[in-house]
Amino acid sequence: MLHLFAALLAAAPLAQCLIHGATPPLPVPPRLSAGDGARLHAQSGVVLPPLDTLYTFDQLIDHNNPSLGTFQQRYWSTWEYYKPGGVIILTTPGETNADGYTGYLTNDTINGQIAQAHNGATIVLEHRFYGLSNPLPDLSVESLRLHTIQQAIDDLEYFAKNVKLPFPGGDQVGPDKAPWVLVGGSYAGALTAFTNVNKPGLFAASYASSAVVESITDFWAYFEPIRQHMPQNCSLDVQAAIARLDSILTGKNQTAIDALKASFGMGDIVHLDDFAGALKTNLYIWQELGPGDGASVFYDFCDAMEVVDGVNAGPNGRGGEHALAGWGNYWTSYEYADVCGLSDAETCWGTYNANDSFWTSTEVDNAERSWSWIVCNEMGFFQESAPISHPTVVSRLLNISYDERTCQQYFPTAFPLPTAPQVERTNLAYEGWNLHTKHLYFGNGQLDPWLYATVSSPFTYVPDTPEQSIGLSAGGFHCSDLITSYGVADASVLAVQEKGLAAITRYLAEWRPAN
Ligand SMILES: *[C@@H]1O[C@H](CO)[C@@H](O)[C@H](O)[C@H]1NC(C)=O
Ligand SMILES: *[C@@H]1O[C@H](CO)[C@@H](O)[C@H](O)[C@H]1NC(C)=O
Ligand SMILES: *[C@@H]1O[C@H](CO)[C@@H](O)[C@H](O)[C@H]1NC(C)=O
Ligand SMILES: *[C@@H]1O[C@H](CO)[C@@H](O)[C@H](O)[C@H]1NC(C)=O
Ligand SMILES: *[C@@H]1O[C@H](CO)[C@@H](O)[C@H](O)[C@H]1NC(C)=O
Repeated sequence: MLHLFAALLAAAPLAQCLIHGATPPLPVPPRLSAGDGARLHAQSGVVLPPLDTLYTFDQLIDHNNPSLGTFQQRYWSTWEYYKPGGVIILTTPGETNADGYTGYLTNDTINGQIAQAHNGATIVLEHRFYGLSNPLPDLSVESLRLHTIQQAIDDLEYFAKNVKLPFPGGDQVGPDKAPWVLVGGSYAGALTAFTNVNKPGLFAASYASSAVVESITDFWAYFEPIRQHMPQNCSLDVQAAIARLDSILTGKNQTAIDALKASFGMGDIVHLDDFAGALKTNLYIWQELGPGDGASVFYDFCDAMEVVDGVNAGPNGRGGEHALAGWGNYWTSYEYADVCGLSDAETCWGTYNANDSFWTSTEVDNAERSWSWIVCNEMGFFQESAPISHPTVVSRLLNISYDERTCQQYFPTAFPLPTAPQVERTNLAYEGWNLHTKHLYFGNGQLDPWLYATVSSPFTYVPDTPEQSIGLSAGGFHCSDLITSYGVADASVLAVQEKGLAAITRYLAEWRPAN
């Protein structure tokens, strides 16, 4: 199986959770680099260090055993808008190498908008076990025992209480002396909410975008916003194509099975569920979208099924046989090479070879592996076919058994047998959808594939209260409200941002220094 994710992310200036291959996209906020022009301190005109200046913090390796010492946790910071008495705005991009997230220091993002409104300094902190912020020098099962949600929450507290920020007076701004604001999107949005539950009062205010607060093992509903909001003809045709594919793959006609695999250029793939799993790639593109990104490759995929001789299909599409053939054409003429290059299908998409370095490598800076550890242990979010009574855009060959096996292959000593993630424990510890906190704002988008794990999920009802306020945009995708330009592109996203900024202002007004 090819390791495609890291290369793609590294190459993209604004990678909206870019991911290809059978590996599911990580729930991370969009990578966003600020321009590298010189920046001046707004108040004094003093020239500031470049935004990509790297700082490090001596973080505890193990919060349960401080005698193990410290490791260097990377962070970036600026004080463009800071005035004494101002707020300190902290974010972590979560489960990714944090290089290229300097946009989260500026008013290209909600972080900088909060800074600008409240004389704040901004910080981007790399999460433990991602990028080059590793408590231990590898990602072996033994090392990953220190990779837990709780250790990450404890990192945020220890950082806030002990960091000496690189600006005049920056050693006198702990959360007892200055109001701190925690911002996060996606997994880091959940971490933001969990930190409020676990360390009430540590942060004066928090902003959590697309926060996946409820951990769910069989997260088939990942595909629901996609199924519901892609063009109707395309949605119906994907469902019809998958129904046809499933009837062939579960049938007894080997000639038909071989012909189907060959029509996708994947005649050599061994396991039928790997073949079916590869086809999720086209749907995962949805997670990369933001308001205004309409002419994306997602719509090229639809056009391949819907458009014949320049004419669009009607609202009901063209039916499974035509759709599956169009999908295969698109796959062989574009998607396959884009993801696999010259590699054969089994090497690119096969997941059953436990000796593949994809599973066995324990080198650091491998976000897929580190995130899989959290997925397999604490959060789940396996993206499968819908329940049998419900329309599906994903093959019914794909269920939680497929992902439990991959957990076993990544971490055979931790999971000698297929094991379900301990999501009940996570939802109990950090309260999932039952959370009742203060000074926390949630921003969500109806078009976000992660919607069903947020407080705006149609599966639950979490009230929008002044103390724990919720904004939901009709036009928002994944973490769209973190990004200033998406508010410019879509009025509903702007409204979510404005509601959030107002909530943060209210929460900050209630903050008092510790006496
Ligand atoms: C961002 O800050 C610059 C000045 O530093 C200002 O010109 C611009 O209007 C700000 N953008 C927003 C969205 O507030
Ligand atoms: C098996 O599938 C092939 C190719 O689709 C088809 O030509 C053939 O008639 C099928 N055989 C049976 C027994 O249905
Ligand atoms: C059919 O699909 C195309 C995308 O390929 C889309 O542009 C068009 O709006 C769709 N039409 C209907 C009626 O769903
Ligand atoms: C994996 O490697 C081990 C030891 O090198 C070997 O015994 C085993 O047969 C290999 N398995 C596969 C699927 O190649
Ligand atoms: C998952 O699907 C496979 C076939 O692809 C089947 O053998 C297995 O029993 C299913 N597991 C569950 C939990 O439904």
